[in-house]
Amino acid sequence: MTGFVTHSIMAAPVEYQGEILRTLEVLNPKDKSQFDNTDLVLVEALASQVAIAIRYCDSYSKLNEENVELKKAIHLENTIIGQSKAIREVIQLAEKVAPFEVTVLLTGESGTGKELVARLIHESSPRKEKPFIAVNCSALPENLIESELFGHEKGAFTGAITNRKGKFEMASGGTLFLDEIGDMGFSVQAKILRVLETGIIERVGSNQLIRTNVRVIAATNKNLRLLLDEEKFREDLYYRLNEIHIEIPPLKERKSDIPLLANHFLNLFSSLFQKNIKGLSEEVLDLFMNHEWPGNIREMKNVIKASVILSDDPTILLGSLPDEIRRTKSQKVFLSKEIGSLEGLEKQHITKLLMENDWNKTKTAQILNISRPTLNAKIKQYGIIIEK
Ligand SMILES: Nc1ncnc2c1ncn2[C@@H]1O[C@H](COP(=O)(O)OP(=O)(O)OP(=O)(O)O)[C@@H](O)[C@H]1O
Ligand SMILES: [Mg+2]
Repeated sequence: MTGFVTHSIMAAPVEYQGEILRTLEVLNPKDKSQFDNTDLVLVEALASQVAIAIRYCDSYSKLNEENVELKKAIHLENTIIGQSKAIREVIQLAEKVAPFEVTVLLTGESGTGKELVARLIHESSPRKEKPFIAVNCSALPENLIESELFGHEKGAFTGAITNRKGKFEMASGGTLFLDEIGDMGFSVQAKILRVLETGIIERVGSNQLIRTNVRVIAATNKNLRLLLDEEKFREDLYYRLNEIHIEIPPLKERKSDIPLLANHFLNLFSSLFQKNIKGLSEEVLDLFMNHEWPGNIREMKNVIKASVILSDDPTILLGSLPDEIRRTKSQKVFLSKEIGSLEGLEKQHITKLLMENDWNKTKTAQILNISRPTLNAKIKQYGIIIEK
C-alpha cells in the first residue's frame, strides 16, 4: 500500500495477558535477503516488551484523566462560595496577604470555613506548587504531637520503629496549617515558637538540626485573648502567630449567602450521589434563612447531604430534612412571627413557657395552672414539638 518493495516481511502479535493489543510488523529493506527464525524470536521478544509499554501508557493516560477529574472535584470542594459583603471582605484580605511571608491567624466559630481560607491563602501564594499540610493540634495527645510536628528518630520512644519526617519537614517549601491552635499544650507552644523564630527543628530523639522552610497559618475557634488572660496560651506565641488576623464571621451574620450555599451543596451532593434533585422548596429555604446555624457551613453541608440522600422528590421538601433542624426551626420561626388569633397566642405562650422550663411539662402545667393531661392535650392540639 505504501509502494515500498520488500521480499521479506514479518509480524508478531503484541500480546498482554492473553489480549492482543497491536501487531508489530517489520520489513526487510536489504536486497533480497530473508528474515529467519532468529529474527522472529527477536521480534517476538520485542513485541512482548512493547505490550508492557503500551499497557503502562494506557493506564498512565487513564490515571491522568482521573487526576484531572479529581482535581476538578477538589477545586469544587475547596471553592469559597458567597457574595455577602462579610465573606467578600474575608476573601479580599486573604488574597491580599497571600503573597507575603507573614503568619496568618484565622479565627471564627466551628464550621465557618477557616481551613478553606487557609487553602485559599496557600493557593494564592508563590508556594502554591508545594504542599499544603494541615495538622489538627487538638486531635493528638501531647506526647505525640511533637513527633507529629517535628518527626522522630528510630528508637526515640516505644513504638518509634523507623525514622519519620514531621509535618514541618513534609510541608517544606509550602504551607503548614496549624488547626485548633488553642488546644495545644503549653510546652508544645514553646517549641513551636522556637521553630517559628529560628526556622530550625530537631526530630524527637535526635540532636541534628534541620532547617525548615514553611509558611505557617494557624486557626482556632477559641477566644485566644481569653486563653491569654487565663495563662493557657503563651503571649509571645500569640503575637508571633497573629501577624495578620482574619476573623471569619458566622453564617448567621451573612444570611444572604444561605441560598447560594444551599444550591452549591445541593448540586455537589446530587451529582455525587447521582440523584436528580433540582432545588429546595420555599418552606425549606425559609427555614434555612431563619435557622441559627450553630455549626455554620459544616452543619448546612451535612443537612443538605442527608436530605439529598433521603429525598424521593426532585425538590427538597421539609419532610426530607433531618429531625433536628426541623425542630429548632419551627418553634423559633413561629415565635418570631406576629400571632393574630387567641389560639395562636395560647400556642405561643405555652411553647415559650415550655422552652423556658427546659420542656418540663409538670412545671409548665403548674405555672399555667392547668393539669398535666390538659397541657398534653394542648401540646397535641397545637402540634408543639417537644425538644427534649
Ligand atoms: N464559603 C464556603 N463555601 C463552600 N463551602 C464551605 C464554605 N465555608 C465552609 N465550607 C465547607 O464547610 C466545611 C467546614 O469548613 P472548614 O473545615 O473550613 O471549617 P473550620 O472553620 O475549619 O471549622 P472547625 O473550627 O470546626 O475546624 C468544609 O467542608 C468546607 O468545605
Ligand atoms: Mg477546621
